[in-house]
Amino acid sequence: MVLEAKGISKSFPGVKALDDVRLTVRAGRLHALLGENGAGKSTFINILAGVFAPDAGEVLLDGRPVVFRNPGQARDAGIAIIHQELNLVPQLSVAQNIYLGREPLTRTGLTDDGRMNREAGAWLHRLKLEIDPRTPVGRLRVGQQQVVEIAKALSLNARVIIMDEPTSAITEQEVAVLFQLIAQLKQDGVAIIYITHKLDELSAIADDLTVLRDGRFIDSRPAREISRDEIVRLMVGRSLSDLYGRKGSEPREEVLRVEDLSLAQAERASEFVVRNVSFQLHCGEVLGLFGLMGAGRTELLETLFGLHPLRSSGRVYLAGQPVWFDSPRRAIDAGLVLAPEDRKREGLLLSLSVAANASLACLEQTERFGLLNASREAELVGQFVQRLRIKTPSLGRLTRFLSGGNQQKVVLAKWLTTRPRVLLLDEPTRGIDIAAKREIYELIDELVAGGLGVVLVSSELSELLAVADRIVVMCEGRKTAEFPRAQATGEKILKAALPTSAD
Ligand SMILES: Nc1ncnc2c1ncn2[C@@H]1O[C@H](COP(=O)(O)OP(=O)(O)OP(=O)(O)O)[C@@H](O)[C@H]1O
Ligand SMILES: [Mg+2]
Repeated sequence: MVLEAKGISKSFPGVKALDDVRLTVRAGRLHALLGENGAGKSTFINILAGVFAPDAGEVLLDGRPVVFRNPGQARDAGIAIIHQELNLVPQLSVAQNIYLGREPLTRTGLTDDGRMNREAGAWLHRLKLEIDPRTPVGRLRVGQQQVVEIAKALSLNARVIIMDEPTSAITEQEVAVLFQLIAQLKQDGVAIIYITHKLDELSAIADDLTVLRDGRFIDSRPAREISRDEIVRLMVGRSLSDLYGRKGSEPREEVLRVEDLSLAQAERASEFVVRNVSFQLHCGEVLGLFGLMGAGRTELLETLFGLHPLRSSGRVYLAGQPVWFDSPRRAIDAGLVLAPEDRKREGLLLSLSVAANASLACLEQTERFGLLNASREAELVGQFVQRLRIKTPSLGRLTRFLSGGNQQKVVLAKWLTTRPRVLLLDEPTRGIDIAAKREIYELIDELVAGGLGVVLVSSELSELLAVADRIVVMCEGRKTAEFPRAQATGEKILKAALPTSAD
């Protein structure tokens, strides 16, 4: 037994985030921490890692009580945390990030860059990430950045590594790499605390699991003794019939046609991020868009939404009329909206309330004579807060204080309130718990039944196969395949998504 926590409680203004929670973590084992959005998972591990002080309770390391006043103290004691939103400095190099605040020094007191780069390189090599340690972290993909975080944890001699939703932003291949790493860490005796909403992952890596609900400890068991259905019941407090699948819809009239859409690279106009992509979308249809990280899916949606007017070309028709949006405002006015994937950067104003964020895109519905109609706003937003099960003590709560998954839901609510004709969704269920995911699918279903057309970008194949009527696959900026739902299989899609080695 390496780490034990008992009787942990923690309140924030208006919320009891944790109430008498316990956890026991053993060396060489992975302990999964599960629960719905807002259940208290991130708060709990932040206490273990010294980010927050608990209001009550005790943490024992090797059987001895410890009190961490800051993350540095937890780190020195061997507990490393990899946060839900990664914490690297994009402008600094990989090596500088790994050794931030504890750079090796030369005899004259300067940073010993040579040694730092050598040692960082050795850790990266061990983790099979063959990149130059001098590369700025901002140039790496999310999956690679995660490996850098793990390298940092290992270089600190961490005996407990905490990972908060490590697979929510990486591709299936990067997940495979991460799982190999986890197996290796377990062999070396490292204890891992692992938060995820993807229950399918558990069978591959989890040894033990603990479920939280509404800030309370529900149960703790060896992973092999408990079925997926049982886990869901513990998390949600009721059983959920497992499979979700849309029936698929009858094709109706075309709502969006895209021809030869291209987007040039920002640095080099002769290179393309999106290249000659054409597709159609019908009323009442969900079009899935699959691709690996870097395939150009997000950029394709952004281009349609008018975010890159100077670098793009092609033809777009909305309900048969030629259109070209040179700003998001125009796209929104015409009924085409994009719910972006990166909630921190584009989707949310963290210092505004839930209500303000959710009604931001539909001000004309809530504003009258230039004044905000607060009751109209509350009605409109309240409806989506309920449907999407957004966990917040009030509509006036600042979104900064919501859990990660609940912030993601506010982004969705914001775009749904505009009642669009075409809805572009970029990874809408990333980090969202299983019950709320179903709500979102059902909501999509309801919206398309009403005639809306949806383009859904997802890195989760199973999600696309369950929800989309048609699937378009992209690779390196080009469209490489299109399958109607009946002919789509995971294997065919992945094959079309992988770059051919001849390129
Ligand atoms: N800094 C904070 N200030 C106020 N309330 C907070 C703060 N951090 C978390 N909370 C609240 O505490 C509760 C638990 O949040 P937490 O982030 O621990 O959930 P979670 O289980 O990690 O959820 P998710 O799966 O969505 O990431 C939520 O109701 C959240 O709004
Ligand atoms: Mg969280």
